[in-house]
Amino acid sequence: MRLVLGIETACDDTAAAVVDENMNVLSNSVWGQKQTHAAFRGVVPELAARRHAEVVFRVINEALSKANVSFDDISAVAVNNQHGLVRSVTVGVSAARALAFARALPLIPVHHVEAHIFSAIMSHEELSQPHICLAVAGGHNALILVREVGNYEVVGKTLDDSAGEAFDKVGSYLGLPFPAGGEVDKLARNGDATAFNLPRPIIKDGSLDFSFSGLKTPVRKAAENLEAHGSAADLAASFERAVVEVLAYKTLSAAKQFGISLVSVVGGVARNTLLRTELTRIGQDAGVVVKFAPPELCTDNAAMVAGLAQHQISCGAESNFAIDATPNAPLGRKSALYRPQR
Ligand code: KG4
Ligand code: ZN
Repeated sequence: MRLVLGIETACDDTAAAVVDENMNVLSNSVWGQKQTHAAFRGVVPELAARRHAEVVFRVINEALSKANVSFDDISAVAVNNQHGLVRSVTVGVSAARALAFARALPLIPVHHVEAHIFSAIMSHEELSQPHICLAVAGGHNALILVREVGNYEVVGKTLDDSAGEAFDKVGSYLGLPFPAGGEVDKLARNGDATAFNLPRPIIKDGSLDFSFSGLKTPVRKAAENLEAHGSAADLAASFERAVVEVLAYKTLSAAKQFGISLVSVVGGVARNTLLRTELTRIGQDAGVVVKFAPPELCTDNAAMVAGLAQHQISCGAESNFAIDATPNAPLGRKSALYRPQR
């Protein structure tokens, strides 16, 4: 059985995982850095890279031991080298290159956002069909036409903040710890989403782009004056409703525009409770099937990296040691890199 060890260090999560060629996730270890960055209410790139360097080999050992395998059982090493904070990505790339070289294993470079897209595909067979992917996280926020694995067209993107950043900023206005998306989600469950009248930025401008920075000021002002209109839970729920309405509207517009009735949702914000229920419901009404990545594969992880590499190896991808951290690599047509073997 071919086993791939994946390594992922895009931002502030140090992750390693082992995935087999049938896409079974044998282990999925993630070491977050919440405490390192909490006081700064945002990720400090220099600190993130140092922390990755401290723990990366421990995380890799943990992933091997949780999968109940040793290095002798691993057939290839995969790493994200194409998206994230440059110093963070460099730590993962260096670790992966060193390990693959020392063990004479193939090294498979992958794109972080492509791995997020693949996190839904490896979990839902239907997604081998063309579909629209809503990739929604802290470091990226886009609508992507997925023609097949390796053939992508970004059809919409955020013009300013990502939805994840908006959740994190609103969390900080409400005094919640960073990253706050999960906490805002929990708080919103007990709130009244009609309590605050918030804008739905560029919802009907005819484009598939997003803009979430316009929500910050009204939410901050409301947070400074909470007693006047409602509770923190009400504000969290009103904000969450506004973001989810925009994401759902634009996603279904993309599906309609491209005549596609299949949608996937990936990235950290895809864990959001309201987004999961609302987009599924609105999709059903419009005859669009919506598939979410499983929660443990939504936030940054290395199982999606190892899974994508497994797919690429099956399609003939070759080892490449001449890789560097190129953290702003575009997500485009990549199939030339791993054309299926005939
Ligand atoms: O995919 P991810 O781990 O990292 C990036 O690639 O950016 O996403 C992290 C983002 C953070 O902004 C976090 O607040 C958000 O995902 N997030 C959520 C939830 N869980 C995580 N946002 C809304 N609701 C959630 N339940
Ligand atoms: Zn990510």
